[in-house]
Amino acid sequence: MTSVGPIPGGFLEDAEEEAGQHLTTLDGWRQFLTEAPSAPRLRSEGEFAALPVAEQELDDEARLDHHARLLVVATSTVRHTVTSGRRLVLLNRHAVSARRGLIVSGPAGTGKTIAITQLGRSHELLDRARQPHATGRIPVLYVTVPPAATARMIAAEFARFLGIPVRRPWNITDIIEAVVGICTDARTGLVLVDELHNISLTTRHGSEVADTLKYFSERIPATFVYAGINIERTTLLSGTRGAQIAGRFTLIPTHPFPYGPEWKSLVATLESTLMLRRQIPGTLTGLDRYLHERTGGMIGALSHQIRGAAIDAILSGNEQITRESLAAVPLDYTAEKTAAASQ
Ligand SMILES: Nc1ncnc2c1ncn2[C@@H]1O[C@H](COP(=O)(O)OP(=O)(O)O)[C@@H](O)[C@H]1O
Ligand SMILES: [Mg+2]
Repeated sequence: MTSVGPIPGGFLEDAEEEAGQHLTTLDGWRQFLTEAPSAPRLRSEGEFAALPVAEQELDDEARLDHHARLLVVATSTVRHTVTSGRRLVLLNRHAVSARRGLIVSGPAGTGKTIAITQLGRSHELLDRARQPHATGRIPVLYVTVPPAATARMIAAEFARFLGIPVRRPWNITDIIEAVVGICTDARTGLVLVDELHNISLTTRHGSEVADTLKYFSERIPATFVYAGINIERTTLLSGTRGAQIAGRFTLIPTHPFPYGPEWKSLVATLESTLMLRRQIPGTLTGLDRYLHERTGGMIGALSHQIRGAAIDAILSGNEQITRESLAAVPLDYTAEKTAAASQ
């Protein structure tokens, strides 16, 4: 048997990094909406052996790519966010002022970004279905708050998504006016602001960023959705400024998964996407408690473990995932710490 080493070249890391980065421009966002990759066909051992070497390599390549790609599972966080978000969009449609919003908040790696981008995706696809002939619509805007952001930087992020070239002499009001103008014309109905924890209301810059977001939310007739790490424990929802947000926003908390039915079904769903020739069905569901202990119930760590082990299985020719091959995939730092603590 060939030994299973670490994933060469950070194949999975690269794919995951790419996936997150391109969403903050309109082109990248639109590409995300049209992505519907079809899974390659799984050949039997005999079929595979009969292929010429060049075609065997293509087969491997397609399956490596399949496992590197992220399959989004309709977890309760995703479903809850999509349902609550859609409800607010409807309720806000006729609101003249004081539109309501959503805050998705929890520890890092609990699926907040995935949940709000799925909401965005569903909103935009619905908008297209309702207005099949309309052009120039930008139903969803997605921005992330940069670390140590200033008000001008956050306004520039909005402009960047929309493809507005921010000219040097422009002051922040110029940028804001351009953004509000385009969003209004393009009927933007949903504004997603991610990485909100990068704002600290205890600094002057931080309060100005919060004020800019508030101003955007008053001027753009859209539903605002925020996501960030443990927002309810930061300064963002306290004080006079915070109270205004807290009073108008519904909080959706995200958590690591407890060991239970949803975890088990998550493992089963991920197992069902495997494309390995010698994989024995039920192997992973049989290891669901081990996987829970190892990952601390973090969906990102779980997905990374399973997909990493699948890639190893193809590269090594083993074509199956075992407890040992799962153990050989290095975990991210948080999950390693959790696993060590529970031993
Ligand atoms: N619904 C989901 N289906 C599949 N994988 C998910 C899902 N939600 C999260 N993940 C995995 O968890 C990782 C972290 O999710 P992300 O949304 O970036 O977390 P957060 O924004 O809370 O830090 C993702 O890269 C992905 O691998
Ligand atoms: Mg995130």
